[in-house]
Amino acid sequence: PTSERVADLLDRMTLPEKVGQMMQMHTYDGVPHLIEKLHVGSILHASPERLEQAHALVEQTRLRIPLLIGEDCIHGHSFFKGAEIYPTQLGMAATFDPDLLERVARATAVEVAATGIHWTFSPVLCIARDLRWGRVSETFGEDPYLLGELGAAMVRGYQGEGLGDRTAILATAKHFAGYSETQGGRDASEADISRRKLRSWYLPPFERMARAGCATFMLGYQSTDGVPITINEWLLNDVLRDEWGYTGTLITDWDNVGNLVREQRLFPDYAQAAAAAVNAGNDMIMTTPAFFEGAQEAVAQGLLEESRIDQAVARILTLKFDLGLFEDPRFADTARQAEVIASPAHRALNLEVARRSLVLLENDGTLPLPADRPLRLAVVGPNADDEHTTLGDWAGASGQADWLTEGHPREMITTVLDGLRALAPAGSEVTYARGAEIITTGPDPKGAFFPDGQPRPHIAFPVGPDEAMIAEAVEVARGADAVVAVLGDRIELVGEGKSTATLELLGGQVALLDALVETGTPVVLVILASKPHVLPASAERAAAIVWAANPGMAGGTAVAELVFGAIEPSGRLPISWPRHVGQQPTFYNQIDAQHGYRYADLTQEPRWVFGEGRSYSTIEFANLRLAESTLGLDGEIEATVTLTNTGARPMLETVQAYIRDVTSSATWADRELKGFTQVEVAPGASVDATVRIPVAACSIVTARGERVVEPGAFQVLVGPSSRLADLLVGDLEVTA
Ligand code: IFM
Repeated sequence: PTSERVADLLDRMTLPEKVGQMMQMHTYDGVPHLIEKLHVGSILHASPERLEQAHALVEQTRLRIPLLIGEDCIHGHSFFKGAEIYPTQLGMAATFDPDLLERVARATAVEVAATGIHWTFSPVLCIARDLRWGRVSETFGEDPYLLGELGAAMVRGYQGEGLGDRTAILATAKHFAGYSETQGGRDASEADISRRKLRSWYLPPFERMARAGCATFMLGYQSTDGVPITINEWLLNDVLRDEWGYTGTLITDWDNVGNLVREQRLFPDYAQAAAAAVNAGNDMIMTTPAFFEGAQEAVAQGLLEESRIDQAVARILTLKFDLGLFEDPRFADTARQAEVIASPAHRALNLEVARRSLVLLENDGTLPLPADRPLRLAVVGPNADDEHTTLGDWAGASGQADWLTEGHPREMITTVLDGLRALAPAGSEVTYARGAEIITTGPDPKGAFFPDGQPRPHIAFPVGPDEAMIAEAVEVARGADAVVAVLGDRIELVGEGKSTATLELLGGQVALLDALVETGTPVVLVILASKPHVLPASAERAAAIVWAANPGMAGGTAVAELVFGAIEPSGRLPISWPRHVGQQPTFYNQIDAQHGYRYADLTQEPRWVFGEGRSYSTIEFANLRLAESTLGLDGEIEATVTLTNTGARPMLETVQAYIRDVTSSATWADRELKGFTQVEVAPGASVDATVRIPVAACSIVTARGERVVEPGAFQVLVGPSSRLADLLVGDLEVTA
């Protein structure tokens, strides 16, 4: 059995070999140094050539322990030329479709495994809060239940039938926990967060991942109450290990242990930092070279028991045995790559998820545009033909392209302009004008982020409107039947360490949109942006608004299909859209709103709410009925509602079920999503949809921090969004 093989190997390892196993390193200092001097157990962000070199050197080592290779393949295979890049996690969340996401994760695992990578740092279970945070696009949005459903689906997809299967890869639940509770949206700022709040929102999705067998957990960067997450023994040991019984492997984020000495300044040396991190429960230490000497020194000084090191190494070796790496180290397989990368099946899946991710926010009837006659179509905007923003963060064509791959080939990426040109009705005239720039970039005064000195990141400076560019766009719009304006953010404004102070459309975009609506030509506004933005007043005069997130390689085709009515819009918002940046954070399940439902100068209502989205048809919800109106604590709510398609086109509706605890012992959200299902309804047809919710899920967190269901009166609210006016209400009594 594995445990015996692990014990046998551990017995034969020296302390430096064990400490090396606990290290995950980049290859900046040279591969021989990593393998021969540091005995590292894992490598991330390495080119195929460096990986090959590393594997060959491992063969020369005393124990020949195979390497674990990790990578951030979080919406497709980020770092392999031509591999699939799907919509970002936030875009995929708009599908509200766990099965679809499981298929995406499975297809990703198949591609990733073929390239010799065993471990993806996905899914992200952070809850989107202040939208100025640069990593919102990596999340599934604002709702803990939706996060858990989609995250569990992706874990199933990545890990497949079991780690022994050669197409399975390790999944990572990250970033444990509370990292997104930023101050002012600033990345990695202190998370001002109580234990009750953690238990209310931030921990449940992670508990779900722990219980779903997610092989690894990764920490965030943040500290809380003066304690960096890296040494938060309560979270890492008491909650994760003892309470949830998690037996998987815990990895730090990038150089967390080094930062305990340098940035957070908790310890004067790496021996103390290493001891604190390992004693707190970390098993693998990401990219801290000084951990190698530090951990050995800590053992020599009696700060760290070797038995704790053994426990961490045992977890890492268990992963390697479970993956079968000792028998087959799973090197890159070029024949397999030719079979699975860019395969027709994966291309088709990519288009399917892109179609489902688009959210139609407004439509005065202009969409879909007629597909049966030639059109004069103006396509305008800085994101209409920008392949980097089309792919989004963690994609080889983006800002990361310079340090790992040459990026995904341009011809594999369909921008909105490409899509509209390809799908416009025969004989149409499609004219393009860029119309505005968003930013210009300059060097970061703090210097390069990566230790090999590559010139990254840059700082983005918004530019002003360019009158000549606007005039050209207006000219193009004036002569058209419709204008598709593609605005949003840019990849330089998205990602780790790239939070924004504002949420407005930057650069010359607002002036451009103002000018476009003045032309009188109907404006279809496509927001190609990583996260919700605050739209200007002129957006209210747009004929239609679509949010496309970063829609991935096939995104432009999906947008064009939506514009010409070849598909039915079905995406629903996994995240609320604010009216003003000062409303942050804006999320539907806030606790204890009281007078806070409005500011003195502005409503607190978001512009579009969680769960919202339109289609080309309309559905009426009626006749909500509960199978039982009284249930015990172990019961299951069965809520059925009748949907009637009152429009002329078929429609896929997401039926959302929220729970309200009418009176609770502690302040609590007015309603929380606890279930959803999707149904297709043909024009004129009526269909029943049923959502089932265990009573055990109708819990609150008491003032003492315990999660309990408090018997008494509840309401089940069912409808097409989280907006109260959209929801039908059923009464339920829960008995002890
Ligand atoms: O996985 C990421 C994490 O999300 C942020 N810091 C770097 C890690 C490895 O790339």
